[in-house]
Amino acid sequence: MQNRIESAEQYKDFYAKSMQEQNDYWAMIAESFTWKKKWDHIQSGNFEDLNVKWFEGAKLNITENCLDRHVQNNPDKLAILWEPNDPSEQAISFTYAEVLEQVNKFANVLKDSGVKKGDRVCFYMSMVPELLFGVLATARIGAVHSVVFGGFSAKALAGRVKDCQAKMVITNDEAYRGDKVIPLKNITDEALNECRIVEKVLVFQRTGGDISMKQGRDFWLNELLADASNECEPVEMDAEDPLFILYTSGSTGTPKGLQHTCAGYMVWASETYKNVFQVNDKDIYWCTADIGWITGHSYMSYGPMLNGSTQVMFEGVPTWPDASRFWQICDKYKVTHFYTAPTAIRALEACGPEHVEGADLSSLKVLGSVGEPINEEAWNWYNEKIGKGKCPIVDTWWQTETGGIMISNLAGVTPTIKSHATLPLPGVSPVLVDSDGKVLKDNPAEGNLCIDRPWPGMARTIYGDHERYRQTYFSTYPGKYFTGDGARRDKSGNYRITGRVDDVMNISGHRIGTAEVEDVIDEHPCVVEAAVVGFPHNIKGEAIMAYIIASRESKSSEEQLFEDLNKMITKEIGPIAKLEKIIVTPDLPKTRSGKIMRRILRKVAAKEFDQLGDVSTLLNPETVDEIIKKVKS
Ligand code: PRX
Repeated sequence: MQNRIESAEQYKDFYAKSMQEQNDYWAMIAESFTWKKKWDHIQSGNFEDLNVKWFEGAKLNITENCLDRHVQNNPDKLAILWEPNDPSEQAISFTYAEVLEQVNKFANVLKDSGVKKGDRVCFYMSMVPELLFGVLATARIGAVHSVVFGGFSAKALAGRVKDCQAKMVITNDEAYRGDKVIPLKNITDEALNECRIVEKVLVFQRTGGDISMKQGRDFWLNELLADASNECEPVEMDAEDPLFILYTSGSTGTPKGLQHTCAGYMVWASETYKNVFQVNDKDIYWCTADIGWITGHSYMSYGPMLNGSTQVMFEGVPTWPDASRFWQICDKYKVTHFYTAPTAIRALEACGPEHVEGADLSSLKVLGSVGEPINEEAWNWYNEKIGKGKCPIVDTWWQTETGGIMISNLAGVTPTIKSHATLPLPGVSPVLVDSDGKVLKDNPAEGNLCIDRPWPGMARTIYGDHERYRQTYFSTYPGKYFTGDGARRDKSGNYRITGRVDDVMNISGHRIGTAEVEDVIDEHPCVVEAAVVGFPHNIKGEAIMAYIIASRESKSSEEQLFEDLNKMITKEIGPIAKLEKIIVTPDLPKTRSGKIMRRILRKVAAKEFDQLGDVSTLLNPETVDEIIKKVKS
């Protein structure tokens, strides 16, 4: 495989070249892609002016790289092995030639429905093949996709549709998720009551459930696809044209729409996939992430397709019909590369050994982890019970903003170190800084993780708000991209990510901002003030605790309030942001200037009572004892 890093020595060479001769390095890498016109400049711009560009002047279409070039060489190679939610339903597979046909049909449907280059198309679907085809079809005609995870609420969907001014929403009638049926179209209808900019809704019939169709706005996707031509020329895109917008939570405000570009993102998703996973021609790769998250974009929709891999796409959940579902799929398709999140690993471990003991799993060669720090116990179980002690585990650290993997071992090429992401990929220049922004040069070190030079896959902006992009990521440590994560670096330069250092929680690998949850809680009539923190949880990694000052008039019991709040949160954000616990308290610890001391609330929630530090300078130190008493009870 062209330019794939095959040895630790070669990693060192490539890494050094990427740092010392950046432009030559990326020119060499970019040569292997299909361009309609090559670049004038490899890279320009910087973090100070926040005008980073990669491969400027180049013209391309990412789907030509994902599909057409593989179809030319090997049309019958299997691309997608689709496994339905219910194991008794027929699985479906698609070759690269068949995927191209489906994508072209979908692209023609979009065009005939009035979608043009640059328009935003929002997807609110489950993991059916049509979601993947739709995403690629959008890219083929030069429109911009924004996929919203099917577990988000109507409000959350509406917020995203409005923010990116989507012209069209594509959804299912309903979605199968384990033993549940999720009414995606009804939720879409509710969301669209709030945003009238959407001109058309395409509905993919999955369950045949009873839904209402609004005349003139809603159309059956299946019918349109059946009549569409299977030929569609890919639209020529500029390197820096937007490819997609994906929303993610931050420490303040509403979720941000990170915008990724056609060329830089393509090169990044492709290269990182190739080097980290080391997938060969006959291998079967499976990333369990939903396309609604960045992992499903870079390591399902794009990375494997760009590399011509054969991959599994799974509609269901790991625990239905029982907790052996993942392992049965691995055996059924003889999966060689398996990529999932620590929260899934912990949840499956907790279901008991009987679910894994029956599985063969001898096809597995490489395991991957993403989304949160993997604790040692989960790592051991993954290594022993799933990998049988013979599979390298790639611990891939990255973010929605980074477009693809930034720090990770390369499977079988660079060493695996338990619970460590280890080394930066070529092109990635990580630095640790202390709270004053001083760069920590010596090893070992511990500090806040920044990246101090541009890389091709980085998001270019927050859609519609470049200033917010600057403020969020480039203002804390001028001249550097601040990740929001803390990390340790050992004496050999290996990184271990310790978790978020800002007000972003990581619940089952999903990012949720404390402010987002507080905004919902504050709307409850009995709540005077609330502060939300994450605390350690066996399965979820982190769970949410809310400290609440209730109004004097409130007649609600604590149980009632807990229930009400979770109903509100489910409606406003989605079930992933539900509270684990509430503590009703007469007061919250505050500084003399009236700021809530979250640091203390986090320590109390984690039951680290002896690590509170000096509380005597607080405005109301006595509150701390009271909340400790409550948490202990
Ligand atoms: O805190 C880090 C954690 O997930 C955050 C990024 O979340 P998101 O944008 O939703 O992307 C998740 C999938 C890439 C990071 O800031 N994180 C991600 N991967 C790891 C991780 N923490 C530790 N180790 C990882 N391998």
